[in-house]
Amino acid sequence: MCGIVGYIGNREATPILLSGLKRLEYRGYDSAGLALLEDLQAAISSNGHSTQLLSAHQLVIEKCKGKVTDLEELSARNPHLSTIGIGHTRWATHGAPSDVNAHPHTDQSGKIAIIHNGIIENYSQIKKHLISRGHIFQTETDTEVLAHLIGEFFEQSHNLTEAVRLSLNEVVGAYGIAVISSENPDEIVVARKGSPLVIGVGNDNDYFVASDAAAIIAHTRQVIYLSDNEMATITRSGIKTRTISNVEITKTIEHIEMELEAIEKGGFDHFMLKEIYEQPRTITDAMRGRVVEEEGNVVLGGLENHLRELRRVNRILITACGTSFHAGLIGKYMIEQYARIPVDIEYASEFRYRNPIVGDDDVMFAISQSGETADTLAALREGKRKGALGLGIVNVVGSTIARESDGGVYIHAGPEIGVASTKAFTSQLTVFALITIMLGRMRHLSVVDGRAMIRELLALPDKVQQTIENTEQQVKQIAEIFKDATNFLYLGRGYNYPAALEGALKLKEISYIHAEGYPAAEMKHGPIALIDENMPVVFVAPHDDVYEKILSNIQEVRARKGHVIAIATEGDEQITELAEQVIFIPETIPMLTPILSVVPLQLLAYYMATARGCNVDQPRNLAKSVTVE
Ligand code: AGP
Repeated sequence: MCGIVGYIGNREATPILLSGLKRLEYRGYDSAGLALLEDLQAAISSNGHSTQLLSAHQLVIEKCKGKVTDLEELSARNPHLSTIGIGHTRWATHGAPSDVNAHPHTDQSGKIAIIHNGIIENYSQIKKHLISRGHIFQTETDTEVLAHLIGEFFEQSHNLTEAVRLSLNEVVGAYGIAVISSENPDEIVVARKGSPLVIGVGNDNDYFVASDAAAIIAHTRQVIYLSDNEMATITRSGIKTRTISNVEITKTIEHIEMELEAIEKGGFDHFMLKEIYEQPRTITDAMRGRVVEEEGNVVLGGLENHLRELRRVNRILITACGTSFHAGLIGKYMIEQYARIPVDIEYASEFRYRNPIVGDDDVMFAISQSGETADTLAALREGKRKGALGLGIVNVVGSTIARESDGGVYIHAGPEIGVASTKAFTSQLTVFALITIMLGRMRHLSVVDGRAMIRELLALPDKVQQTIENTEQQVKQIAEIFKDATNFLYLGRGYNYPAALEGALKLKEISYIHAEGYPAAEMKHGPIALIDENMPVVFVAPHDDVYEKILSNIQEVRARKGHVIAIATEGDEQITELAEQVIFIPETIPMLTPILSVVPLQLLAYYMATARGCNVDQPRNLAKSVTVE
């Protein structure tokens, strides 16, 4: 999720753009930049020199890796007089964070600049075509490809709106874009598909553009929200809106009531809840451009150079911490079931110090949302030092673990602000499912089975959405009942044993209630002594091949007066006779059930924490990324 701002009017653009970008810095980003159309006439008259002007306006780009404050210093060193410009904070998806990969990007002519939020899936095909037409690229980004494509169409019509529109009809993917050109100095062209874009209507013939109203609410509360496949041409005299199919449309101006803080959280009370709700989209983004349904297979660009090792591998190692470890444990179960490759998983902090046995043919996956966790980084280094191929499953592009891996798969979950990891976890599981299909199809998994798994994967985002909508209110009520509990047990079997571990971690890290995850069958080996009328026990018990077994575990708990809260498959009537509370989730294949069963567990932790007045987004004693040992 990148930050986009734009301005056109009668005031100086730079301070408006910089203050807007600062409003978006909560999103997390790695670089920032501005593109301005410098009014040379005004510039020259202001410093008194007269000269023959080649063009009344020149396109100026200031951009750098780092924070908005770094960009601010850069702009102060190179002031430009301009009343039209666009600005961007980047959360890298293609191309590591760097000055050159920062937005804005320009076309071949250097006269058109674009900023972009989203992912262009077919950028490599478009890039190949443009290279064949003589285009030279400076960066690894998908956005620069879009800039060159717009430039290519602009050469034909010299109409910026038409050039943008024709380009967008060529791309596959998600975008929120703003485009300016030194040849069209009085307009900003914007468009959106899958990434938010809002146009602010000022009081003095000035207009604002943003990916998030937080960036412009200081200037106006009158806004137009573009919908998918819509675009607008913004000039000082007004806004023209149309679809990218060139159908003119009329948009209503809305008034923003929300306060700034609420807007930054997308209207949610906390980032954690916002990120729980983002999961249908982030799971989609984790799969975007990566499934080849007719072949029952997947394409993972970051592993392309290692297919030979992955075909021959006899043992896979997985290492991680916390929630990422739980994702890795489910990944182990997936890979062993469908690719029949032995998988050893270990906490990174243990692996790094115990002089582990690693073979030259081993492949190690290091799982990390932040890509900066010290123990995981050290374990990756140890595994590589001893001969393993080190692959990362990481969220933050260009992070240390991503850079030190030999390859890997980005999960594309966007910035995760809440300390308690939610959307990153389900995206990690989605990526593990993709890796499992790839490894399985290299071995015994048939195209038919691969297609079936992909169909189930593609159906997941809607099922997650359905789960959120159908369970949130019920979970809120359950939280009210149990908010004063001092201990919880979370039990599961098979794929849902790690889901139980994750549910317990969520609860303890944000509500400060002691909670323990356990394999359900392990209860009788000791923990069952804990069960009494004060012990709530969450069973993750969807329909799968160990369902009957977990029913008997539920009976064992009930016999000792434990309070049973069950996560069960929709339509399961048997469990309703046993559990006090039953939270239903849609049916899916066993390996994907944790992606659904974890959602009510995330919501339960969230509502228990809010009921107890805890600081959900910044729980005590915790950091979002543990970069120390
Ligand atoms: C999860 O909710 C916690 N915040 C924590 O366990 C986290 O998963 C762990 O520190 C690993 O972080 P990473 O994924 O960024 O490496």
